[in-house]
Amino acid sequence: MQVLRTVDEARGALAPVRRAGRSVGCVPTMGALHEGHLSLLRRAREECDVVVLTIFVNPTQFAPGEDLARYPRRERDDLVLAAREGVDFVFAPTAEEMYPAGALTTVRVAELTEGLCGPHRPGHFEGVATVVAKLLNIATPDRAYFGEKDYQQLQVIRRMAWDLNLPVAIVGCPTVREADGLALSSRNAFLSPEERRAAPALHRALRRAAEMVAGGGTAAEAEAAVRTALAAEPGFQLQYAEARRPETLRRDDTPGPPMVIAAAAYLGGTRLIDNVIVEKDPSG
Ligand code: PAJ
Repeated sequence: MQVLRTVDEARGALAPVRRAGRSVGCVPTMGALHEGHLSLLRRAREECDVVVLTIFVNPTQFAPGEDLARYPRRERDDLVLAAREGVDFVFAPTAEEMYPAGALTTVRVAELTEGLCGPHRPGHFEGVATVVAKLLNIATPDRAYFGEKDYQQLQVIRRMAWDLNLPVAIVGCPTVREADGLALSSRNAFLSPEERRAAPALHRALRRAAEMVAGGGTAAEAEAAVRTALAAEPGFQLQYAEARRPETLRRDDTPGPPMVIAAAAYLGGTRLIDNVIVEKDPSG
C-alpha cells in the first residue's frame, strides 16, 4: 500500500494503472475509519482491480462554529485498517495541497441541497460537492463508493457527477449499524456513555415512521411520529425530521412509499444524522 501526499504523486501513481487498463475504485473519507467506511472499501475491493482510499478532513464543508477542529484524526490507525482491507493507494493530502490558493471555483448543486441538512449547514454541500469533484478528478476512478448513511450527500454527489459528465459510476452502499441500531459514525466517539445508551432512539423513531409509511402513511404523519418519539427522549434536541421522495428529495403529499425519512438531532453536543428508506413494494 502506497501513501500519496500530493496531487502530482497521486496522478503519477495512478496514470500507469489506467494505462494498463485496470479498473480503479475510490472511497473518499475524512478518516477515523469505522466499519461503515470499511464496508465501502470491501465493496470497492470486490468490484475493482485497484482501490484508492482518500483521507481528507475537508475544511470547506465545515461552517464556522462546527466541529472541524475537534474532528477525530487517527491516520496511523486508519493506515493499518486500510492495509488490512487490501487498499492499494491512500491519498491523504494536506489542506494546503488541496486548496493552495483558497478556491475561486466551487460546485453548487441546487434544489437537492435546499431541505434536510441544507438549511442547517450553510455551505456544507457546496464544500462536499467541490472537494468530491476535486478528489474524483485527481483519482480518476471508474467507480466511487458512498454510504446511504449520508443520504442527501449521496444524491448530491450523484447529481453532480451526472450534471458535470464525470466519467465515474457513483455507487451507494447500505448503512452499517451497531447491534442496537445506531448508525456508525466517526462522531459517535464524542458521545458520553449515557448518551451512547440513549442514541439508538433516533433510529427507533425513524423505523417506526418507516412502518407507518409502508402501511400507507403520509410524509407529514411520518415526520410527526419522529418528532413525537424524540420529544419523549431526554437529551435529544431534534433539528429536523423530513420525509421526502428518495430520488428527487422532493416533498410529496401522496401517501406511501417510496420515501426516505431523514432526521438530524443533537444529543448533548454531538450532532447525529440517520435515515431510513422505504422502498415501493414491487408486488403492489
Ligand atoms: P465521512 O463522514 O468520513 O464518510 C465517508 C463515507 O463513508 C461517506 O460516503 C459516508 O456516507 C460513508 N459512511 C459513513 N458512515 C457510514 C455507515 N455507518 N455505513 C455506511 N457508510 C457510511 O462523508 C464524508 O466523509 C465527506 O463528506 C466526504 C464525502 C469524504 C467529502 O469530504
